[in-house]
Amino acid sequence: MKKDFLAISDYSPADLQEMLDLAVRLKKEHFNGGNPPLFKGKVLAMIFQKPSLRTRISFDMAMRHMGGDALYISPDEIGLGKRESIADVARVLSGYVNVIMARVFSHEHVLELAKWASIPVINGLSDYNHPCQGMADALTIYEKFGNLKGLNVTFVGDGNNVAVSLMHICSKLGANFTIASPEGYDMPEKAITDAKTFASASGSQLHFLRDPHEAVKHSHVIYTDTWTSMGQEAETEKRKVVFPPYQVNAQLVSEADKDVIVMHCLPAHRGQELTDEVADGPHSVIFPEAHNRLHAQKAVLYKLLEA
Ligand code: CP
Ligand code: NVA
Repeated sequence: MKKDFLAISDYSPADLQEMLDLAVRLKKEHFNGGNPPLFKGKVLAMIFQKPSLRTRISFDMAMRHMGGDALYISPDEIGLGKRESIADVARVLSGYVNVIMARVFSHEHVLELAKWASIPVINGLSDYNHPCQGMADALTIYEKFGNLKGLNVTFVGDGNNVAVSLMHICSKLGANFTIASPEGYDMPEKAITDAKTFASASGSQLHFLRDPHEAVKHSHVIYTDTWTSMGQEAETEKRKVVFPPYQVNAQLVSEADKDVIVMHCLPAHRGQELTDEVADGPHSVIFPEAHNRLHAQKAVLYKLLEA
């Protein structure tokens, strides 16, 4: 059966760890003369319903570095589900390319693509989760600390797509995960239920709090993301009133472990969820984290293409 990469929750801890170790190896190889052309003759179609810098460029470069190609399909180009049904798009593309990556509004749409495609489908962000980001985040934490087990990872802000994938990879790999989010901005119940199952197997602890100051105590990782995700623009003003107490600033960082790292999937709204002082300060790993998208996704592609 074909493999897809739609959610961290679909993969076992062993598979996730194997992909992280592969990412480490491919990264080393990349900086030591380059990766061999294992994806030669392989083409990735990248469907975007929303804008992107990191996902688009890192996937494209991952394919190029490994001898393959990538095709960018812009939001208006194929009219996914509008000009043509998702099922038909999936079946047509399956005859042209070897793997599909899709960034969609509704998570249902990426599931529908995967259902009908006869080739692997990768979720490049939906309203529910962002598994490619989760892999790059885990890689960044793994490189910094050597292990995820027993670390305290804290997400401050909206219980959104990025938070869900981070919670799932932490709970799969044994890191303790805490979120401080305002009332009304909790993660979906299903994501929490799944995380509890993973945590009981891995021994990780989960905490769902309101107070960011309580949440960051003893944290090795503080993570934040935009207050308003793509597709929620109509709520921007309302969210600007709710989220300021959740800003990751120097005071909040000083309340965590002294060697805490600060992460953000980017794009950042500096002065809102993250101050310049923190983003550009000694604890920040936001750029290595962004660069790790490239290396983590090479591992995901490798696993799906079985190169
Ligand atoms: N973090 C992330 O997915 O960035 P882009 O929206 O630029 O792809
Ligand atoms: N939560 C953000 C992540 C962007 C990479 C969004 O969905 O817009």
